[in-house]
Amino acid sequence: MPTPIRKAVFPVGGLGTRFLPATKAIPKEMLPVVDKPLIQYAVEEAKAAGIEEFIFVTGRGKQAIEDHFDHSAELEALLSARGQADLGALGMLHLPPGAVAYTRQQDPLGLGHAVWCARHLVGDEPFAVLLADELVLADTPCLAQLVSLYDRVGGCVFALADVPREQTSRYGIVDIARDDGRVIEIKGMVEKPSPAAAPSTVSIIGRYIMQPSVFAELERKEKGVGGEIQLTDALARLLGRMPFHGLRFEGERFDCGSKAGFLKAQIAFALKRPELRDELMAYIGDQAGSRP
Ligand code: UTP
Repeated sequence: MPTPIRKAVFPVGGLGTRFLPATKAIPKEMLPVVDKPLIQYAVEEAKAAGIEEFIFVTGRGKQAIEDHFDHSAELEALLSARGQADLGALGMLHLPPGAVAYTRQQDPLGLGHAVWCARHLVGDEPFAVLLADELVLADTPCLAQLVSLYDRVGGCVFALADVPREQTSRYGIVDIARDDGRVIEIKGMVEKPSPAAAPSTVSIIGRYIMQPSVFAELERKEKGVGGEIQLTDALARLLGRMPFHGLRFEGERFDCGSKAGFLKAQIAFALKRPELRDELMAYIGDQAGSRP
């Protein structure tokens, strides 16, 4: 049985430029889908997968994330005076004191750099990475699906999704050694390849399980696509040293780093809410009928 996954890293140090002006003063990860910030969905998913330590890599202007996972004495007093149901609105996660740690990425030099900033907090054990701007709607939380596969195969395990070929330049794309339709053995990976150069149309989405040896590769601080220190490049250098698998997970994934993906997530998650569903369906029906 491989070493269990106890720690998760949440890189939240990016600038979120695609969502300006909303993200000028508010972190992208705090944007809500219906009524819950993106980052809370990711933390809940990690908790449901058995994660015990939650490591955030923040940056300038990201204080709202720390406040969000802290107590709010005034709100708690007010809502508990109104009753237990009202207190539920706070969506408290009840993470034990000391289970949450923050470190700062002084400059947003890329996702790989953000993960490297967590090296001392992670130490010498395998860990998960969750990107809050990838949201997954699933009966079994996406990270829990990855952990089940990891428990069988060890090494590195990623969540994978098929994308249209014209979108390969937005994602990390894997080169496939074997594909049984669900589990893929990975023999290569490349960050944001052009459609012509992409080795497949299967992309890594923002859920990873990886080994601590990735830190030595990130330590080189080599820049990749877009002049950023890329996580995919560091992981690719570990190929051949351990098993690499990907999972076409069960569930629907929303790329909330893009506006269209974010809006689709709003609709999908709202339609899951009994109190919103009928009103929203009627509105969507009206709009579809009345607009060209
Ligand atoms: P993105 O690639 O979506 O970048 O990062 P971004 O800066 O957030 O957004 P845009 O492209 O400018 O609109 C994916 C995740 O990685 C984190 C982001 O915070 C986001 O959660 N990230 C990215 C970092 O923590 N540090 C970085 O240097 C880059």
